[in-house]
Amino acid sequence: MLDVIHRRPVPDPWAEGEKIPWNDPDFSERMLREHLSQDHDAASRRFEVIDEHVDWIHQGVLSGTPTRILDLGCGPGLYTSRLSKLGHECVGIDYAPAAIAYAREQAEREKLRCTYLEQDIRVADYGTGCGLVMLIFGEFNVFRPADARLILEKASRALERDGLLLLEPHTFSAVQKIGEQPASWYATSGGLFSDRPHVCLTESFWDPERKVATERYFIVDAQTGDVTRHAASTQAYTDEEYRSLLLGCGFGEIEFYPSLRGDLDESQADLIAIVARKARAA
Ligand SMILES: C[S@@+](CC[C@H](N)C(=O)[O-])C[C@H]1O[C@@H](n2cnc3c(N)ncnc32)[C@H](O)[C@@H]1O
Repeated sequence: MLDVIHRRPVPDPWAEGEKIPWNDPDFSERMLREHLSQDHDAASRRFEVIDEHVDWIHQGVLSGTPTRILDLGCGPGLYTSRLSKLGHECVGIDYAPAAIAYAREQAEREKLRCTYLEQDIRVADYGTGCGLVMLIFGEFNVFRPADARLILEKASRALERDGLLLLEPHTFSAVQKIGEQPASWYATSGGLFSDRPHVCLTESFWDPERKVATERYFIVDAQTGDVTRHAASTQAYTDEEYRSLLLGCGFGEIEFYPSLRGDLDESQADLIAIVARKARAA
């Protein structure tokens, strides 16, 4: 507990950890349960919501034309599996082992044209010839700005001529709201951060200069008192900042949409969808 008491009063963004531990094998097993749960829209959204998104991606973004799709941070492949059934050939990359194992099993069982790579999208080879590269459910903002830019540049190179990027980032105000949450805690006999009885203490910070929200998690094991720390930082961007970032990373024809359904969805108001075309010169 001295770790908690002697923590820095205010964290430097990303200095105390990149993200929650998606790629830890045990954590990813527990997270898979959350991805697949139909009780909430955390980790992945409920299937009925995903079906609406897939419908818009297929009809609204791709005009129903089958293409090669790369899904960055694909999780258990809930979007790619559906898109492949509509005629697309899909590649999903994610570094969570349990999510990728689930996606592969589904693809094999249902004979889907999906390939999954268990890799970190900051370093993975994206290949070439894609008609669409997507990175959804707000994950874009959790990357350091330099990594976010690198991912966009790699996405642009992976696209064929006139190919499309589909990004679903957070709104600026949603990120600020994350950073301004009051500190809180819960006690559980087992949950996402540990199978063992524990207390989870969380605190959040908003850095108004860097426009970054940082969340800290202290997991206190009920039997040993050992504390495990996690932290995640989330970068806020205005719409104009998204636009200029995309222009600088080889994209043009940038269109903003209120949700991944194409129209306003009050239940997903913290996120927007952006579709951008690979610039001819890129
Ligand atoms: C919020 S979940 C969304 C999953 C999926 N896109 C969906 O909507 O169902 C974010 C996903 O990004 C993955 N992820 C985060 N950082 C990553 C990285 N650096 N490389 C690969 N995958 C990453 C996580 O493992 C997780 O599966």
